[in-house]
Amino acid sequence: MKKTFGIIGAGNIGQTVARHLLKAGHPVILANNSGPDSLKELVQSLGANATAGTIRQAAEAEIVLLSLPWSQVRTLSDVTDWTGRLVIDATNHFITYAPDFKVEDLGSKASSEVVASLLPGAKIVKAFNTIFYKTLAEDPRIMGGNRVLFVSGNDQPSKTEVISVITSLGFAPIDLGSLGEGSKLQQAKGALATLNLVKF
Ligand SMILES: NC(=O)c1ccc[n+]([C@@H]2O[C@H](COP(=O)([O-])OP(=O)(O)OC[C@H]3O[C@@H](n4cnc5c(N)ncnc54)[C@H](OP(=O)(O)O)[C@@H]3O)[C@@H](O)[C@H]2O)c1
Repeated sequence: MKKTFGIIGAGNIGQTVARHLLKAGHPVILANNSGPDSLKELVQSLGANATAGTIRQAAEAEIVLLSLPWSQVRTLSDVTDWTGRLVIDATNHFITYAPDFKVEDLGSKASSEVVASLLPGAKIVKAFNTIFYKTLAEDPRIMGGNRVLFVSGNDQPSKTEVISVITSLGFAPIDLGSLGEGSKLQQAKGALATLNLVKF
């Protein structure tokens, strides 16, 4: 039985990951800031397994993907009870975009640790955040290899589940360890951010 994904943020990254998930047979519920009506045409174009929902409906799906602007993550704190929920964090902590790409000063915390503190009890796995969405949209099976996606998280069963999904989409997941260590490497300005690698 394929898991249903709730995708909070239906823009570049949300739509790109949704297309990969749908191709692999996962139902997706897409939610944005403007409400489900604004997503009608998009979900129609994505096919029968895609629906538009409220932010709460997406937050209560079996697996949740955060693909909304960093500044908006804090609005999700009270949307639902996050205890025990598997949440994939694809956000990057930019506070400005081109040309300066400034990130928020989080002190010694990883951005996904901040997300974890905003969604109390959620099991956060960082993934899908390092690659430009147009590259992420391409077929991950290239030249006999598989495009690399980095994965970090503190809860091993959740991370194992995300790794299994990512593998089924055709990517090559690389486990970087905990949020405190691994996700700092993959987050915005980290050593592995923006790298587009293929594993042979
Ligand atoms: N673009 C990339 O290549 C890329 C790559 C890796 C990671 N990321 C990260 O992914 C996240 C999204 O980036 P993007 O490029 O996909 O942005 P985007 O195209 O601007 O899409 C943002 C989406 O988030 C929704 N949204 C805004 N505020 C919200 C709220 N309070 N609650 C729920 N949904 C909300 C927007 O809804 P409305 O349209 O209704 O406002 C829109 O659907 C960012 O954190 C970014 O750093 C982006």
